Amino acid sequence: MGAWHTASAPGKFVILGEHSVVYGKPAVTLAVDLRMTVAVRRSGWNTMNGDRLDFRRQAHIRYLTRNLRHAVDMLTYSEIPVGSGMGSSAALSAAMAMALASESGEQLSEEQVMREAYEAEYYAQGNGSPMDASTCVHGGGVSINMPEPDGEFLWKVERNGRSWSFNDLKAPEMTFVIGNTGIRAPTGPQVDKVHRYMDRSHFAREVIDDIADVTVEGGKALKNRDVEALGRLMTKDHKLLSILGVSCDALNKLVNASLPYSYGAKLTGSGGGGCMVALTDRPEKVCEAIESRGGTPYVVRTGGPGVMMEPNPPERTGLRR
Ligand code: PMV
Repeated sequence: MGAWHTASAPGKFVILGEHSVVYGKPAVTLAVDLRMTVAVRRSGWNTMNGDRLDFRRQAHIRYLTRNLRHAVDMLTYSEIPVGSGMGSSAALSAAMAMALASESGEQLSEEQVMREAYEAEYYAQGNGSPMDASTCVHGGGVSINMPEPDGEFLWKVERNGRSWSFNDLKAPEMTFVIGNTGIRAPTGPQVDKVHRYMDRSHFAREVIDDIADVTVEGGKALKNRDVEALGRLMTKDHKLLSILGVSCDALNKLVNASLPYSYGAKLTGSGGGGCMVALTDRPEKVCEAIESRGGTPYVVRTGGPGVMMEPNPPERTGLRR
């Protein structure tokens, strides 16, 4: 058995711009204080959380372990709700890419980890943007394809005639409450659904353009630290996403329950279930409202660090399934 190599990456949520970002439009995202941790060590058999496993049957792990010449034990521990629009899959890919590189004696730059994580996501899902991978790797806040970004340029990704430019985003202090519907909704089918709608409807393409306009306005509100304007734009974005067909009753219930105590609220991520997010200065009231409608609330701290090695061996970090 080799020594453990442990890395972690944060989950994220999208303030504005999901789905339209897939078509190269702008978006703004924030990392949260919920993390995914992955530990890897050289082993005689491939195992995941103690069970024998054929990694080749798990698409993104197959991609990330493609160059390994030996078997590995892997342990994962997630604070991020899985399959809920909070980037659990990208955080897993990012932490696993960094832990595997370290196990092979390599040190990857932030951009290299992002490219590895994005390729794994793309290989597994076959669609989508590099937004999740970039946010989970960089941490803090990220703006994508914004007309006049303030923050430092991070990287550019191009694929299938689309391109995404990423900049660091220093967001003002704001309180967000995430509400989880508990309905698992994988990203791929939601992205495909929007794609099909856009293919056959000029109206759907206009809605995507409207989301892009709302996102650019939201970027200005963030710069001006205008939480009221930002909240209004988030609620407008939720309506546009609903028109695209990616919301659902459970998400609408949580959004509507939060609105009386919020500047604004919307679904976050790919929709169809998963999570919504409310911008508020009354987090307790929003949590109560979400709970009263059967959701699970989290008051998240935003702007947490990106992917990083964890110094402790897993026994001491309390790593478990
Ligand atoms: O649901 P999540 O966390 O995978 O977020 C998906 C965001 C989309 O814009 C819908 C897809 C993408 O890859 O950008």
